[in-house]
Amino acid sequence: MTSRVWHPFTQHALHPKMPVIERAMGAVLREVGGKELIDAISSWWVVTHGHCHPPIVKAIQDQAAKLDQTIFAALTHEQAERLAQRLVKIAPTGLDYVFFSDSGSTAVEVGLKMALGYWRNRGQTRTKFVALAGGYHGDTVGTMSVGARGVFTQAYEPVLFQVTHIPFPSEGCEQTCLDALEAACKAGDVAGFVVEPLILGAGGMLIYGPHVLAEMKRVCERFGVLFIADEVMTGFGRTGSMFACEQAGVSPDIMCLAKGITGGAVPLAATLCRADIFEAHYSEDRTKTFFHSSSYTANPIACAAANANLDVWETEPVLERVATLGRMQEERLAAFKTDVRFERVRRLGTIAALDVKVKDQGYLAGIGPILYERFIESGVLLRPLGNTIYVMPPYCISSAQLDKVWAAVGEAEKLDVAAVRDGD
Ligand SMILES: Cc1ncc(COP(=O)(O)O)c(C=O)c1O
Repeated sequence: MTSRVWHPFTQHALHPKMPVIERAMGAVLREVGGKELIDAISSWWVVTHGHCHPPIVKAIQDQAAKLDQTIFAALTHEQAERLAQRLVKIAPTGLDYVFFSDSGSTAVEVGLKMALGYWRNRGQTRTKFVALAGGYHGDTVGTMSVGARGVFTQAYEPVLFQVTHIPFPSEGCEQTCLDALEAACKAGDVAGFVVEPLILGAGGMLIYGPHVLAEMKRVCERFGVLFIADEVMTGFGRTGSMFACEQAGVSPDIMCLAKGITGGAVPLAATLCRADIFEAHYSEDRTKTFFHSSSYTANPIACAAANANLDVWETEPVLERVATLGRMQEERLAAFKTDVRFERVRRLGTIAALDVKVKDQGYLAGIGPILYERFIESGVLLRPLGNTIYVMPPYCISSAQLDKVWAAVGEAEKLDVAAVRDGD
């Protein structure tokens, strides 16, 4: 039977048949028929502790039987109230209010709208955004606008708004980036600066130092520009600390969370902000309301999953697991550092990445789909970003499973890839 499903970021002509997943546990996805795939990308970077982590599953079951859904406009519920209190407690200081939504894209979209509403309600004309070149913040029109422009935004370019993109602070070019940020902020019309702290995810797993992030914050402070940290990928331990901003000692004005907020079990997002951003919208004048919602805002089942996730963080040695995984990744990367087939071998926390040396680079690099198929055949789920291979597994992955993942990377590169190699 012809499938009627249209899949995300999938060229159907190249994927006529897709594996059908029926179960998941720990770091493994199981197909109908029993074949197992090691989920080395945490199912798009969402699964932290492991698939179907029992306390999170139980919280979802219990909540579903009690309160499944309620409108969240001018009504509230216990799970959301408790979750907001707990998020404020663990977040960098100064983030005092929490707005819930459903995905990373909406978390950032909400952040942009909060910034615009803040300035408007304070009677100031600040309507521009600055962002880091190569960034990815989601696929809504607003988040595509602040993200990198490329093949994936071409069709939508006519409706994207103008944003100043400053150069990525690659090693040796940090000052160029900071100077560009300062020049943009000086104009006095910038509402906010949007940034993925310490690492660009979809932009190619590009890493930069905490000192640069701290300096970016200082520049924004000097010009009164709101600092919007997109911790959608980095949040909940990925980079070695609960939030990446912690490593730079940075307290953002707005912080966007999603993916790992529920341990990766169900969709939920949160945008945290400073009290004065909330207060700028607090008024008996209804025109100052924060005009954003979605039907499932703060869905109780999703909030229960997020509370269970925070319980896991409180009761299980999650940061130790994160540190162990970081060490395990580093050990396996060692062999690739001297391997002439690869370059830019790098790691931040639990995330390891390397680039295959080919002339044909970038998101549409021909090598990407070939590697993807090869990995699937080897029983490993990895989705290279063009010629960049990255491994970002759930924190529960075993040493043997990780060995299998890296063996697949080494082997895949040796086999078919030689056929498409057109570099060196
Ligand atoms: C940094 C960052 N921001 C935003 C998003 C968008 O999140 P979602 O896919 O949940 O909309 C992503 C997704 O990968 C991301 O990595």
